[in-house]
Amino acid sequence: MFEILRRDGMARIGLLDTASGKLETPALLPVINPKLNTVTPQELYHDFGFRGLITNSYIIRNNEDLRQRAQSQGLHAMLDFPGVIMTDSGTFQSHMYGEVEVSNEEIIEFQKSIGTDIGTVLDIFAEPYWTREQTESSVHTTLERTQKAAGMKGDMMLAGVVQGSVYSDLREHCARSMATMAVDVHPIGGVVPLMEQYRYEELVDVIMASKKGLSPDRPVHLFGAGHPMLLALATLLGCDLFDSASYAKFARDDRMMFIDGTHRLADMQSLYCQCPACIGHDLASLRALDDRTRMVTIAKHNLYEIKNEMELVKRAILEGRLWELAETRCRSHPSLLSALRRLRVHQEHLEHYEPLSRDGAIFYTGSETRNRPAFYRYHRRMMETYVPVSEKVMLFPEGGKPYSRHYAEAFARARSRGYQPVVASPFGPVPAELDEVYPLAQSLMPTQNDMETESFIQESVQAFLDRFRFREVAHFDGDIEAGDERSDCDLQRAVAVARYQFGPEAAEALFREPVELVMSRNTGKIRNVISDGEHVLSMRAADGLYTLRVEGARRVLPALPSPRMRVIVHDDAAPYNMEGKNVFNRFVVSGDHGLHPMDEVMVVDGNDRLLATGRAVLTLEEMLSFQKGIAVKIRDGVGRPE
Ligand code: GUN
Ligand code: ZN
Repeated sequence: MFEILRRDGMARIGLLDTASGKLETPALLPVINPKLNTVTPQELYHDFGFRGLITNSYIIRNNEDLRQRAQSQGLHAMLDFPGVIMTDSGTFQSHMYGEVEVSNEEIIEFQKSIGTDIGTVLDIFAEPYWTREQTESSVHTTLERTQKAAGMKGDMMLAGVVQGSVYSDLREHCARSMATMAVDVHPIGGVVPLMEQYRYEELVDVIMASKKGLSPDRPVHLFGAGHPMLLALATLLGCDLFDSASYAKFARDDRMMFIDGTHRLADMQSLYCQCPACIGHDLASLRALDDRTRMVTIAKHNLYEIKNEMELVKRAILEGRLWELAETRCRSHPSLLSALRRLRVHQEHLEHYEPLSRDGAIFYTGSETRNRPAFYRYHRRMMETYVPVSEKVMLFPEGGKPYSRHYAEAFARARSRGYQPVVASPFGPVPAELDEVYPLAQSLMPTQNDMETESFIQESVQAFLDRFRFREVAHFDGDIEAGDERSDCDLQRAVAVARYQFGPEAAEALFREPVELVMSRNTGKIRNVISDGEHVLSMRAADGLYTLRVEGARRVLPALPSPRMRVIVHDDAAPYNMEGKNVFNRFVVSGDHGLHPMDEVMVVDGNDRLLATGRAVLTLEEMLSFQKGIAVKIRDGVGRPE
């Protein structure tokens, strides 16, 4: 069983429950070759803190001594490892050396007999150069074998490998078919050649196609990905597990892994590394070690680099900064930069998982930042929901944030002359009413724009002007005289944010006359919206967005056809949610498939009766697939009926 504890976009911190305890993800499983033991499993567990490892059941089965020990003592005792053990099946050996002498059924039975926690199907490694026909037939066989293995797995958890090479439709088909089988973990396979050849943009497409077909309640393992520089990007795309044989393989040829790439000891000009393996060494002393000690030292160094990065990735998820980390890491190699740029074609899918807001600010790290789903969402929603308050627009250049404070005086004068102030920002045009909405005010941009941003600003402003057909377009030139037109910019903001966040129909229902705004005495910002005597919305200072009150939900419910903005729960859960208790995934029956994490939702029963309002933690598809965990954090229940 797998549950999500925290998430940022498609990235997640999860907990995988196995026979040998819980494994927190994202996690990297070092590969242990039971014949070599470069770093012992005991060291991996106690010194490095790895709670899982992966080894090869095919190698164990082919070695008389290992096979007997594994079958008599069990794998955990043989390796002396108290954590989670996953085994691979021999597929990789067939990729490397041709045919393997074992059947799918035999290797599944063998993995069961040695007490592995997670055993792997004997999938077919589809090579990137294979034809579509070859790939199609290999996917068919992999699916048949997975179905067969799922029927034999018993207490063992099963890894069903998604193949399909670089054919996105075959990947997605393979993933979707496997999602219906009794499989527990899904490695994405056949990607080692892509990584060896630095074909990272194809890797991005492969991961995205696989993720689309898989069910969100199972962890996804990127088979053979063990370089630290790839972990942030792969986690960002929703990979939960990784494995690394390269830490040991590279060490055997004196290659050291660093976050910016792999370097040969012979080519390095200096060494300064504070990891526990290197500390006390300089280049000369490391080179002078005897072969075995040097190899072990470098293997340990490589593991520390990997572990460090994995922990940093986890922290970035918790702090909402994984995009920044991935963008930074992808600058370490031009092929990774291509992968980052490739995310552009997947914006729409990524947007579905993009939270409504985050705690921290968005940092612009380069022109690729503008391809983030937060940018895509803002621009699309603004263009779809915004209604100008005047036929005259005045365009302002990017300035300090929030713009309405930076340009307070100028905006007031522009309004007094009947102009609608709009800032031409790297997010696209920002009407003054929306300037405090996440991520507009919660972002830091360089003051020196790159050329792509300059041209994006020009194009998006032109599209804005074309769309809204203003009668007059003026450009702020630092000096405007005051006029005498009056406008209620607080009310304009209140309505514009509601349209942006909930859509025009809901906004209309929420803003029934007379409307009174309660302003914060400290900040002068909108706090509460009172419509027709009812407190319908509260605005959060941190992200400039609303929380929906029960009174507001009572208005929105009849204005939006079911299931929009709704999470529909089982009748058994209804009394708890009415009392204000959170909605758990297993009680979710259906709802709005367009919900994003952190969206405001109305929790209703099967008869569309309002039970509570709250914030979605997951997308609806995730709520429906997970058995454990919170779906909606409830803010207000309607109260228990007498
Ligand atoms: N190790 C690396 N890639 C693969 C793969 O595609 N399948 C299996 N079973 N193991 C792998
Ligand atoms: Zn080191």
